[in-house]
Amino acid sequence: MTGFKGPNRVFSGVQPSGGMHLGNYLGAIRKFVGMQATHDCYFCVVDMHAITVFQDPKKLREQTYHVVASYLAAGIDPEKAVVLLQSAVPAHAELAWILNCVARLGWLDRMTQFKDKAGKDKERASVGLYAYPVLMAADILVYKATHVPVGEDQKQHLELARDVAGKFNREFGVADFFPLPEPLIKGPGARVMSLRDGTAKMSKSDPSEQATIYLSDDADAIARKIKKAKTDPEPLPSDVAGLEHRPEAANLVGVYSALSGRTAADVLKEFGGEGFGKFKPALADLVVEKLAPIGAELRRLEADRAYLRRVLMDGAARAAAVADKTVAEVKEIVGFVV
Ligand code: AMP
Ligand code: TRP
Repeated sequence: MTGFKGPNRVFSGVQPSGGMHLGNYLGAIRKFVGMQATHDCYFCVVDMHAITVFQDPKKLREQTYHVVASYLAAGIDPEKAVVLLQSAVPAHAELAWILNCVARLGWLDRMTQFKDKAGKDKERASVGLYAYPVLMAADILVYKATHVPVGEDQKQHLELARDVAGKFNREFGVADFFPLPEPLIKGPGARVMSLRDGTAKMSKSDPSEQATIYLSDDADAIARKIKKAKTDPEPLPSDVAGLEHRPEAANLVGVYSALSGRTAADVLKEFGGEGFGKFKPALADLVVEKLAPIGAELRRLEADRAYLRRVLMDGAARAAAVADKTVAEVKEIVGFVV
């Protein structure tokens, strides 16, 4: 535990690198919505993270509006939470540079997401992709955020953010200057898998459209994708232990559980012994019921660029007021002439 004395504050981010999907919703955005009433919240569109792999500039701008519209359509209230664009608040990049000089190469060498994204030819990956977790630490620490709601795949990056914060505090003799941010990961939906492969996570960059349920999908598309989802030939088991070694079945039951608010055990009590011919239509109905209203609102908001821009400009101003103060303190601490 630390003795950090600042207020509890929530920060999280989503990359504008493709269409928002069910995994983003269950692993991240739905949790954001639940926290805004009780916490001081900052929800960011991390465009500087997105360009760590090449993004077509025109698409990047579209996708940025798409993420903001998704936040709002899912229920984030920009009057309560601060909704901001990372590149519009220069303090993120300024702090990231200083933290690049605190983080160690050895720490970054262990990051599994870099290894996955860089692939075999890591000599050709961008320097930004390698330093990505340090920018993420800066995003969080520039607000001295204490809590970070994310999906399971971000766990290792959060550990790195804690390591960076701790080393900064120790090295400069400023105990508890930065909090050690806590990840909030638990809960069903922390790791939604591809509909085509139960061992790969659902992701914005999956080449198969069939693998991913997008927030913008209409009822027909959702039903079709679930009907075609890969499964095994066995009926559903009657208890959770029976889902072991059945990744596709476990994923579909997990999605049902996350969206219905029922435990997986309870869902299996109802559907255990049934084939997917019965379970899939029930799942499709549930997904449509929960996502279709968000999709409709998303399409409406996406068309209102002027409004989305206003939200981002207002958010950047409110965010900068906090972030600039931290950067000024950090400059003083590290010995820059200010
Ligand atoms: P990204 O799409 O990589 O920018 O991720 C944005 C947020 O969604 C992060 O908190 C991720 O952990 C979360 N997320 C992304 N994909 C999934 C998934 N398949 N299951 C659960 N959470 C996810
Ligand atoms: N790396 C995160 C992802 O792809 C996005 C992100 C960037 C983030 N900065 C963050 C998440 C800070 C939480 C806090 O999912």
